[in-house]
Amino acid sequence: MSEIELMIDGKEIVAERGQTVLEVASENGIDIPTHCYKKPYEPAGFCRICVVEVQTSGGKPELQTACTYPAQEGLEVKTNTERVKKSRKLTAELMLARCPDSEAVKELAEEVGVKKTRFSKKNKDCTLCGLCVRACKTVSGDNIITFVGRGPDRKLITPFELSPEECKGCGACAEVCPTKVIEMVEIEEVEEK
Ligand code: SF4
Ligand code: FES
Repeated sequence: MSEIELMIDGKEIVAERGQTVLEVASENGIDIPTHCYKKPYEPAGFCRICVVEVQTSGGKPELQTACTYPAQEGLEVKTNTERVKKSRKLTAELMLARCPDSEAVKELAEEVGVKKTRFSKKNKDCTLCGLCVRACKTVSGDNIITFVGRGPDRKLITPFELSPEECKGCGACAEVCPTKVIEMVEIEEVEEK
């Protein structure tokens, strides 16, 4: 794999072509908050908490999700500008409004300087991060868990609604879920029906 040079927070960094900005930053000790990304699953860019400012040569600085944005030759990345901080705070407030009781969400919000939300609370347990969908697809090779609907009506069809033949109860979804809303006991109960 060929090497590229880019700049992150004023530091010149050599990376491998094909890496994401998040991977390069993390390898170089630069912390970027994440929620919907977890190795080894493919990044999806759903939650937007990992936004950074990127500028290609000749281009304007723009906000991009570090977990999906490819590191490239000559790229300038800033992970902690006022614009970045404002965007992450807004994302955290929206997440906190959706899942106000989730410890993972509260911790993430605090990490970006948010303690409360000005938006109305939805009292959900699931942030719609999609990790369970990707984990299930990776492990089972099938689309057993999936999202249905769009926008505010978007929801997840969880293992609790599956027929026993489809869900093998491997637990990959429960293991990866940041809010721990999927419990193995419920999957086992479905299997026994
Ligand atoms: S159930 Fe958990 S892993 Fe799945 S989308 Fe919701 S928060 Fe993410
Ligand atoms: S961690 Fe990058 S968009 Fe969620």
